[in-house]
Amino acid sequence: MWRALAAAVVLVVAVVRPAAATDPYAFYDWDVGYVTAAPLGVKQQVIGINSKFPGPTVNISTNWNVVVNVLNDLDEPLLITWNGIQHRKNCWQDGVLGTNCPIPSGWNWTYEFQVKDQIGSFFYFPSTGLQRAAGGYGGVVVNNRDVIAVPFGRPDGDITIFIGDWYNKNHTDLRKMLDSGKDLGMPDGVLINGKGPYRYNDSLVPAGIEYETINVDPGKTYRIRVHNVGTSTSLNFRIQGHSLLLVETEGSYTTQQNYTNLDVHVGQSYSFLLAADQNASSDYYVVASARMVNDSLWRRVTGVAVLRYSNSGGRASGPLPDPPQDQYDKSFSMNQARSVRWNLSAGAARPNPQGSFRYSSINVTQAYLLRGTAPVEIAGRRRATLNGLSFTPPETPLRLADAYGVRGVYSLDFPERPIRGAPRMGRSIINGTYRGFMELIFQNNDTRMQSYHMDGYAFFVVGMDYGEWTEDSRGTYNKGDGVARSTVQVYPGAWAAVLVSLDNVGVWNVRSENLDSWYLGQEVYVRVVNPEDTGNKTEMAIPDNALYCGQLHKYQKQQTPHHRMGASAARPAAVVSRVAAAMLLLVGAAMLSP
Ligand SMILES: *[C@@H]1O[C@H](CO)[C@@H](O)[C@H](O)[C@H]1NC(C)=O
Ligand SMILES: *[C@@H]1O[C@H](CO)[C@@H](O)[C@H](O)[C@H]1NC(C)=O
Ligand SMILES: *[C@@H]1O[C@H](CO)[C@@H](O)[C@H](O)[C@H]1NC(C)=O
Ligand SMILES: *[C@@H]1O[C@H](CO)[C@@H](O)[C@H](O)[C@H]1NC(C)=O
Ligand SMILES: *[C@@H]1O[C@H](CO)[C@@H](O)[C@H](O)[C@H]1NC(C)=O
Ligand SMILES: *[C@@H]1O[C@H](CO)[C@@H](O)[C@H](O)[C@H]1NC(C)=O
Ligand SMILES: *[C@@H]1O[C@H](CO)[C@@H](O)[C@H](O)[C@H]1NC(C)=O
Ligand SMILES: *[C@@H]1O[C@H](CO)[C@@H](O)[C@H](O)[C@H]1NC(C)=O
Ligand SMILES: *[C@@H]1O[C@H](CO)[C@@H](O)[C@H](O)[C@H]1NC(C)=O
Ligand SMILES: *[C@@H]1O[C@H](CO)[C@@H](O)[C@H](O)[C@H]1NC(C)=O
Ligand SMILES: *[C@@H]1O[C@H](CO)[C@@H](O)[C@H](O)[C@H]1NC(C)=O
Ligand SMILES: *[C@@H]1O[C@H](CO)[C@@H](O)[C@H](O)[C@H]1NC(C)=O
Repeated sequence: MWRALAAAVVLVVAVVRPAAATDPYAFYDWDVGYVTAAPLGVKQQVIGINSKFPGPTVNISTNWNVVVNVLNDLDEPLLITWNGIQHRKNCWQDGVLGTNCPIPSGWNWTYEFQVKDQIGSFFYFPSTGLQRAAGGYGGVVVNNRDVIAVPFGRPDGDITIFIGDWYNKNHTDLRKMLDSGKDLGMPDGVLINGKGPYRYNDSLVPAGIEYETINVDPGKTYRIRVHNVGTSTSLNFRIQGHSLLLVETEGSYTTQQNYTNLDVHVGQSYSFLLAADQNASSDYYVVASARMVNDSLWRRVTGVAVLRYSNSGGRASGPLPDPPQDQYDKSFSMNQARSVRWNLSAGAARPNPQGSFRYSSINVTQAYLLRGTAPVEIAGRRRATLNGLSFTPPETPLRLADAYGVRGVYSLDFPERPIRGAPRMGRSIINGTYRGFMELIFQNNDTRMQSYHMDGYAFFVVGMDYGEWTEDSRGTYNKGDGVARSTVQVYPGAWAAVLVSLDNVGVWNVRSENLDSWYLGQEVYVRVVNPEDTGNKTEMAIPDNALYCGQLHKYQKQQTPHHRMGASAARPAAVVSRVAAAMLLLVGAAMLSP
């Protein structure tokens, strides 16, 4: 009944939003709360959704409307963000502190957005306070519409795989470490789908750890979608004895190539076709091992799952398949990254070929070089910076402040180059020109891997190299088939350049995907405003259920907290067409009537 009522309420909202009325709706009710688990053998509170860790997959198609009623059953504020979902004209649903007030503990809040003109593999996660280090994540699969051709045959199955480093300390303890100026140190392991490693080696893996098994039938082909949802460790992903045919990354079809292994950096998503074409004399290892670190020190930090054929002859045994042997070759991983290309002739969400958007013929109108360094001390605190500025989320979200004319929350003067002089705290953001074409160059001056993400957009990855970026570096850019995605890796001592067409109005987060760097302030926002906006055409109106906080808290209506701690059984997601939703509305109305 709860769901029926929720559906009824959101349908009413939908009716006053005619733009999306003809596309189907998917409704979800999520209870986000703590679940006790011991993925690496140490009991801790992880964040589950409807008691599940990882959370349910949002399985939808291009242009569908998604309605997610989130109950914050945690003991702290919550926001869910949708990594790679563009929320066209609608940063109100982006779920980061620059656009939304957090959902207070015990309250519920309903996200409603359309996955306009998107296909591909994405994930959601809780965006504040290092909560992703405790879980709370899940997959978002945006299928193509039936009328759009896909550049490969229909797979026999679709499998989502989350890989990520993991700490036995919970997120509140990790937060305390960062607050007191400490480093998080080496993670305790790597989880695959929320589970610890298969016991491939008795001295490295303790007994009694639950591991993930991926079941396949011989002769079939599966689409596997791999997401690095960890805190800060780049992971090399591989499946023993099998090649991985890369087909898509973060909403773009790639040129199809076989890899024996691929580096997946924090926040990145890839999908591969996996042919179950090997003999089934035994199970095979599925491995996610730490990259760009001292292998012998980090051996423990390895995720191991099992690929099991339905006619498997026995357990996997023996050594894991080797990682790339490139200790003395820092170009291997970068060359692999450069080999990920856009398939220009494939259509994606629309039938026209991806390559019909010729990014190289567009003139850059704004260029920012964003330099990240190792954490620095600012006013006695350890902070992370971009261009010498360390961002702190405002109490009044930037977009909300704009909507109500609250001044002084931020300034539009983010520097185009690193500032000279001492690093400082700041709330400067980038003044993006609507319909402009922006170049962002990420320069990683730290000695560890970074990855950077932009909300609201896919950007074209046009170049990366070691050393300092200079104007001459532009001569090396890929002018033809740089892939469009939302998260780019930046190697230590190297740069990566991306181009982005600023056609999506809103205030959009650009951040380090490494949770610790992000938490310590390595982020900025890009504000894109259409100076000629009339009638809510280029940006959607503030939603009726907007939460108010900071200087605008007086507008907030109170909710009675309704925790359902220990609330049992997962309620399955209801995916309903508009017609079915209308029926639910009637049912809901009937339930409400005396
Ligand atoms: C995290 O662990 C500490 C003990 O180390 C405990 O006091 C705290 O309640 C835990 N927090 C959560 C959210 O489980
Ligand atoms: C996801 O949705 C598609 C299209 O509606 C369907 O074919 C597929 O079976 C669904 N996958 C899962 C895992 O539910
Ligand atoms: C909270 O959930 C209830 C259903 O239990 C729904 O009617 C209500 O609209 C939700 N509130 C918000 C702000 O989304
Ligand atoms: C297990 O790992 C240890 C430590 O790395 C190594 O010395 C040992 O040879 C491994 N055992 C097997 C059976 O591979
Ligand atoms: C990828 O490898 C498979 C064998 O596993 C082979 O059949 C296929 O032709 C290869 N595809 C490409 C594009 O290299
Ligand atoms: C099956 O494949 C494995 C690994 O490729 C190989 O070692 C083994 O000999 C094969 N077994 C059979 C029965 O072909
Ligand atoms: C890696 O760590 C080991 C200690 O486990 C150390 O002996 C070795 O020198 C380190 N290698 C590098 C390249 O730092
Ligand atoms: C690119 O996409 C087309 C479909 O338009 C497909 O036929 C072709 O095989 C793809 N090319 C590569 C290299 O993946
Ligand atoms: C780009 O700039 C060049 C020279 O600055 C100019 O000739 C050209 O017309 C511009 N192209 C577009 C598409 O605006
Ligand atoms: C922001 O950029 C627009 C052009 O896109 C310009 O008109 C405006 O003056 C800029 N605002 C500030 C505060 O720099
Ligand atoms: C960081 O910048 C300094 C000063 O430009 C340079 O000497 C150093 O090599 C850089 N380090 C990395 C890892 O890029
Ligand atoms: C835009 O939306 C806002 C909020 O719903 C509304 O107050 C305003 O009248 C709308 N503007 C136009 C021109 O429709």
